[in-house]
Amino acid sequence: MEVIIQPNQEAAASLVAHIVARELRANPTLVLGLATGKTMECVYRHLVRLHQTEKLDFSLCRTFNLDEYVGLFPSDPNSYRYYMNHHLFRHVNIDPRNTYLPNGLATDLDEECRHYEATIKRFGGIDLQVLGIGKAGHIGFNEPLSALRSRTRVKALTPTTLKQNAAPFGSEENMPRRAITMGVGTILECRRCVLLATGDSKATVISKAVEGPITSMISATALQLHARATVIVDEEAAASLAEKDYYRWIFANEPEWEEYR
Ligand code: GLP
Repeated sequence: MEVIIQPNQEAAASLVAHIVARELRANPTLVLGLATGKTMECVYRHLVRLHQTEKLDFSLCRTFNLDEYVGLFPSDPNSYRYYMNHHLFRHVNIDPRNTYLPNGLATDLDEECRHYEATIKRFGGIDLQVLGIGKAGHIGFNEPLSALRSRTRVKALTPTTLKQNAAPFGSEENMPRRAITMGVGTILECRRCVLLATGDSKATVISKAVEGPITSMISATALQLHARATVIVDEEAAASLAEKDYYRWIFANEPEWEEYR
């Protein structure tokens, strides 16, 4: 795992967007894993700008989102399909048919989960997965106790997540209680993972995810098992990390990061 500390949210999100852009330029048929949440909005703004100003080309790439609420229509502003259309897809030259999210309206949700996994496999697996982190440490909607080998499935949302994500729904009562999410095992099979966390509300969970023991209580700790995982944080989210100087030293000296310094 690598940890990169950026001065602020803008710089951290810009770095994630530039990593995506570099991978996409190197491989126009990239299979790109995407995430939702407030943190990611800034990344999508940067990607849209790169498309507009530098002609970053999405025409041949495919995207797979981590998760979707159960029971929301794509036209519902709180669905992740709506979020992705709104923040990214309709601003870039991606073919909507190449954008995949789990279908939270499927009559057979278990079959939908199997189908989602099969579709990812059919296109050769995910090359680069972008991730956020919930305050309780989840990636996707892999809530505490998610098996580290779990696959795409339906998960009940925990009270912490309901609280964290309730605002746009007006109240917790109006929120779906379940979501379809890629499993931790599914995420670990992605060839590269980049997790972005910003703001002081993520400081405690980031120190646990990066420096704590691997545990199914905090699914983000599973990234410690991944051969190519990068955690990008701003100073606020880095505040509780014990080994900040070490991470800074690596970033300053690792040739791979030269063009980003
Ligand atoms: C939701 C998503 C996660 C995301 C998290 C963080 O729970 N399912 O994939 O990482 O939100 O959200 P935010 O960036 O708003 O803190």
